[in-house]
Amino acid sequence: MGVEKIYSGEKTSGFIVNNKWFLKVYHDTRFRKGIRNVILRSKPENEYFFSKLLIKKGIPTTKAVSYRVVKHLGIFPLNVGFVKFVCMHGLTPLDKLLGSSCFPKLFSNALKVIAQIHQLSIIHGDLAVSNFGVHEGKVFIFDLANTRKVLHPFFAHKEVFRLFHDLYKLTKETPGLYFDFKELFNHYLQEISLRPFLKRKLERDFLVYAFKRGMIRK
Ligand SMILES: Nc1ncnc2c1ncn2[C@@H]1O[C@H](COP(=O)(O)OP(=O)(O)OP(=O)(O)O)[C@@H](O)[C@H]1O
Ligand SMILES: [Mg+2]
Repeated sequence: MGVEKIYSGEKTSGFIVNNKWFLKVYHDTRFRKGIRNVILRSKPENEYFFSKLLIKKGIPTTKAVSYRVVKHLGIFPLNVGFVKFVCMHGLTPLDKLLGSSCFPKLFSNALKVIAQIHQLSIIHGDLAVSNFGVHEGKVFIFDLANTRKVLHPFFAHKEVFRLFHDLYKLTKETPGLYFDFKELFNHYLQEISLRPFLKRKLERDFLVYAFKRGMIRK
């Protein structure tokens, strides 16, 4: 059996198994979260659940095939376990392509993907440029451990502000790189269906958010 570790983080690590599977291993042993997980899903289960759901809805995400969760005293599911995915060889995180000429197009495609998810009243929960990846020219979204349903798409749309802020922080680390965040936000607005007055409110809220953080100037 061939196992290759491809990354190691504070709470998760990633392994490629037999060149076929990608195993995301969760090792956050804090018990406090175990009590929470009796009501909510544990992270591995949540990631598995939403991967299945989004694939069913035709949204490009990494394909989970199974998961396991360790339970404290056999009752409290911990955020310890794994999710087994079909391995996508060469999946490149979007932040690694930041300086490339194709980045604006890819980011615009990422906005389309997240808009599709929001239309289903689903929040990703951890939106960041690094949680999108490119595989064979197509943009995929992944890292669905914190994904959840909300009552109405309007409540979902606002998380996209964080994605723009994340992009802004990345551009600050890359000299000479600049994005028109107002224009980028309009790309997102074009992808969602929302009553005009709610769209205008969302746009106003974004401009305030972006202005406060120095992302746009008056
Ligand atoms: N199905 C897959 N096949 C191959 N590689 C994958 C797959 N899913 C994710 N990856 C790789 O693993 C990396 C981390 O995935 P993910 O964002 O889900 O984990 P994470 O725990 O949030 O890690 P990080 O803290 O680095 O964001 C991705 O950047 C991607 O390169
Ligand atoms: Mg991630």
